[in-house]
Amino acid sequence: MDKKYEKKVYEASYYISKYSVNYNPDTAILLGSGFGKLSERLEDRTEISYADIPNFPVSTAPGHAGKLIFGRISGKDVICLSGRFHYYEGYDFPDLAFPVMVLKALGVRILIMTNAAGAINQSYKPGDVMIISDHIKLMGHSPLRGQNDPDLGTRFPDMSRAYDPELRKLAVECAAAAGLGVHEGVYFYFEGPQFETPAEIRAARVLGGDAAGMSTAPEAIAASYASLRVLGISFMSNMAAGVHDKPITGEEVNAAAEKASPLLERFITDLIGRI
Ligand code: HPA
Repeated sequence: MDKKYEKKVYEASYYISKYSVNYNPDTAILLGSGFGKLSERLEDRTEISYADIPNFPVSTAPGHAGKLIFGRISGKDVICLSGRFHYYEGYDFPDLAFPVMVLKALGVRILIMTNAAGAINQSYKPGDVMIISDHIKLMGHSPLRGQNDPDLGTRFPDMSRAYDPELRKLAVECAAAAGLGVHEGVYFYFEGPQFETPAEIRAARVLGGDAAGMSTAPEAIAASYASLRVLGISFMSNMAAGVHDKPITGEEVNAAAEKASPLLERFITDLIGRI
């Protein structure tokens, strides 16, 4: 992340800030697969299409709307990124960090990230949520690779508290209160887009992974770099490959999240009100 990258971040945030006069958001929420409908909960909204924001990537994954929305949830001003970017879409890791750096430039201090994931931990059930306590990302290079611009962050950011302990505790309480099965666990990052092989999932389990997914970890690295407090929420849309003897499909993932949508919305709405 060099001076050129910083300039692009400021061009994007300058454009967005023209729409922000009526809002003072401390918290941003990045909606992953299956969580898209949550954006409909926002009141007093102002929407900006990603395509109109200078230098902003455009989401191509199914169900990812591609809009930045200012609005209010539970009386709190928030920025909602409806639609995220994945390495498997062809973006490079620094592109995945870009929206996070833009949120930082807009004055956000808390980043809530949601995703759908496959349960590696056999005590989890589809429909449960996992509050991310930590992640394992052994694949692909870092979003921070390259020259460092100290105006954006430190060269060697600490990752030992990447997922904020207080926010995690609050999220566990709110998920349980919404009637969801809830766990805290380790998110194992895979690049995708193919689902994992059963052998990869067995290996991830041995290494300490509880859920497998194709997002969130790159953005969490960028958020640590930018000193944002992060909360990661994974919805268990399926058991990971090989846990049951049946294939996994993208449609199954989206259908499971759609079905759980009312509970997930109640959970996140309550959570934002209590932050
Ligand atoms: N693996 C990786 N990503 C996922 C999965 C999975 O099983 N389910 C939803 N996203």
